[in-house]
Amino acid sequence: MKHDNGRGSFSGKMGYVLATAGSAVGLGNIWRFPYLAAKYGGGAFLLVYILLALTFGYAMIMSETAIGRMTGKSPVGAFASFSKRGWVRAGGWINAIIPMLIVPYYSVIGGWVCRYLWGYISGQGDAMALEGTFEGFLGSPVATIAFFAVFAAMTMAVIFGGVRNGIEKVSRIMMPILAVLTLVVVGFSVTRPGALAGVRYFLVPDLRNFSLMTVVSALGQMFYSLSIAMGILITFGSYTGREVDIEQTTVQVEIFDTAIAVLAGLMVIPAVFAFSGGNAAALGKGPSLMFVTLPKVFESMGGAWIGVLFFLLVLMAALTSSVSLAETACATFEDELGWSRPKAAALVSVILAALGSLSCLGFNALSHVAPMGMDILSFFDFLTNSVMMPVAAVATIVLVLKVIGLDNMEREIMRSSAFHRRGVYRFVVKYLALIMLAVILVSSVCDAFGWIHI
Ligand code: PFF
Repeated sequence: MKHDNGRGSFSGKMGYVLATAGSAVGLGNIWRFPYLAAKYGGGAFLLVYILLALTFGYAMIMSETAIGRMTGKSPVGAFASFSKRGWVRAGGWINAIIPMLIVPYYSVIGGWVCRYLWGYISGQGDAMALEGTFEGFLGSPVATIAFFAVFAAMTMAVIFGGVRNGIEKVSRIMMPILAVLTLVVVGFSVTRPGALAGVRYFLVPDLRNFSLMTVVSALGQMFYSLSIAMGILITFGSYTGREVDIEQTTVQVEIFDTAIAVLAGLMVIPAVFAFSGGNAAALGKGPSLMFVTLPKVFESMGGAWIGVLFFLLVLMAALTSSVSLAETACATFEDELGWSRPKAAALVSVILAALGSLSCLGFNALSHVAPMGMDILSFFDFLTNSVMMPVAAVATIVLVLKVIGLDNMEREIMRSSAFHRRGVYRFVVKYLALIMLAVILVSSVCDAFGWIHI
């Protein structure tokens, strides 16, 4: 079992896998993956994505989890326990700060999901589909902050519950429900008249759409979707013991995450195709797809119930992800300041409330504040995903190569696992990872400046 140092821990393999899958499966699977896959060659994108997940993603998850398990600490303490050098400490801190910056804006979007779910439940499905509804909602400081507060309160309630009674329990309940709801909505979506063209568009490889950008966008998406480089996997690793075969669980999490992403594609793309008469341009990335196009699609399908099921499953996906982010932030305060869970969770709540409200106000009262020409929410997203996460991942890889040593990492992994893909792991960490991280960093910064379009 896990070393007992007074910290929380998962009850075993199942709890760990479901919580990690819960972290991975989130908004990224539902609005980001289908759009990117459709744009960059359908089946070809999927193939590249899977190959990257099984090599680069695999090596990153294994490294982070093993570092957490080796040290029994969240990112700051984990990095510092290998060396007191400045860059190593900075590497730990950047991994720890990322989730504190992400969870507020992620919860703001979670609030939008709550708004739409409430709209469908209370029988205002038609109003949700009206032109201008989303903009009207964003324009209201009171409404955006109120729904953000609802989502943030749900997230923090789980965190106050602790590792086993909070995050593990919620993942155990929500992940199976999420899988079933997804299958129901997929079943409905693919049986609409005209939907099969969408299925074909999504899954059949179209090499004319295949380009270098296919690889670049698949790389970025894999990072985002698997919750890599945000301190989460280090923290979750610290909650597991040597009885958890991290090689096996990594593959399970990757399969689950990819399956939900593909199913999300089957849920969204055929429905939008059927609605728009086969117009692929109707598939926009981001908020417009989920909060503007899909409500219209649901209305045309004549079922408010499908809106309820869809937003309920999105809510669960978002909640388990935001919980994993808040858990990581909380663990840093517990470990570094020696605080109790309620005290650490209270501080996370304050940060969440302050930065989240700022993101809400960026759409209304503070819309004149536009760092780098972006609204405040997009700015936090850019800062974390495009700049800080690649840097955090570089710190992790360099830590493995230069400080811990590949042999020591292997020894740790082999404490629980046969390590069949040791060769792949070594090759990726030694030769590929840093090049790929540079590609992610450069391409996502170029995308943010509008020089290329991902
Ligand atoms: N992996 C989750 C998702 O795909 O939504 C959670 C997540 C992704 C959180 C990216 C934060 C983030 F920046």
